[in-house]
Amino acid sequence: MSMDLNNQRIVLTGITGGIAGVTAQFLLSRGAEIVVSARSREKLDRALSGLEGAISGHVMDVTDAESVADFFARVGGFDHLITPAASSMFAPIREMDFQAAENIMRTKQWGQMLCVHHALPYIGRQGSITLFSGTVTQKPLPGATMFAAVGGATEAAARIWAYELAPIRVNTVVPGVIATPVWEALTGSEQAAQAQLDTIAAALPVGRVGTAEDIAKAVAFLIDNDFVNGISLVVDGGHRLI
Ligand SMILES: NC(=O)c1ccc[n+]([C@@H]2O[C@H](COP(=O)([O-])OP(=O)(O)OC[C@H]3O[C@@H](n4cnc5c(N)ncnc54)[C@H](OP(=O)(O)O)[C@@H]3O)[C@@H](O)[C@H]2O)c1
Repeated sequence: MSMDLNNQRIVLTGITGGIAGVTAQFLLSRGAEIVVSARSREKLDRALSGLEGAISGHVMDVTDAESVADFFARVGGFDHLITPAASSMFAPIREMDFQAAENIMRTKQWGQMLCVHHALPYIGRQGSITLFSGTVTQKPLPGATMFAAVGGATEAAARIWAYELAPIRVNTVVPGVIATPVWEALTGSEQAAQAQLDTIAAALPVGRVGTAEDIAKAVAFLIDNDFVNGISLVVDGGHRLI
């Protein structure tokens, strides 16, 4: 994809994440300047050392309003906001882990909203905001109650913010199953994660699960195309169809 993001200053949350790291490198390679967050100085320094280009960062916990406000004050003026930082969990309603459920609400729903709110004094009028949901908002998947609930809330809020914040554009990227370290955390081991991803890949119309680069390309498209506004862009290899 040829795209010129020179002179674009982009903020990306949760740089240690599988999708965030690849997205940062993808945007850097198109000429953007990137400012990222991580939950600790150590994590931030480790992530920054693996990335090449005009990249810097600050510590932020997306569940802590003071930390979020402080992060954006340090960042200063910028053009585009991307918010993949979130915790993850699977649990069927009979066995709901309410602590993990609250955590995903606080990181993925509340955290994205805090980031949008505190970014507003600094984001340019020609800028954009790209939020994160997941295909389970459209395709019911046992155990994915909380992913669906927070993703659905985020997509609904994004459409309202596209009105409220005009001319700033607000879109949501809706990933399907993407091979990132989150699957190891969700299944308990690398082997279990691979087995699950292989099973899903075999069932998908495209015959593979997604990569972080598939999502990076979608994010870059949402930033670059300034006629795209208020949409939920599904990137799932057709998962919602089966
Ligand atoms: N991978 C998939 O299959 C998939 C599918 C659908 C949707 N998505 C969505 O896509 C986004 C990125 O997914 P991913 O696979 O890249 O996830 P990931 O690898 O688990 O990364 C999540 C990131 O969020 C950060 N984070 C968690 N809690 C935080 C907090 N309180 N404050 C600040 N940062 C926090 C983590 O930081 P630490 O390193 O400090 O924990 C990490 O950097 C998420 O919204 C996810 O729900 C992913």
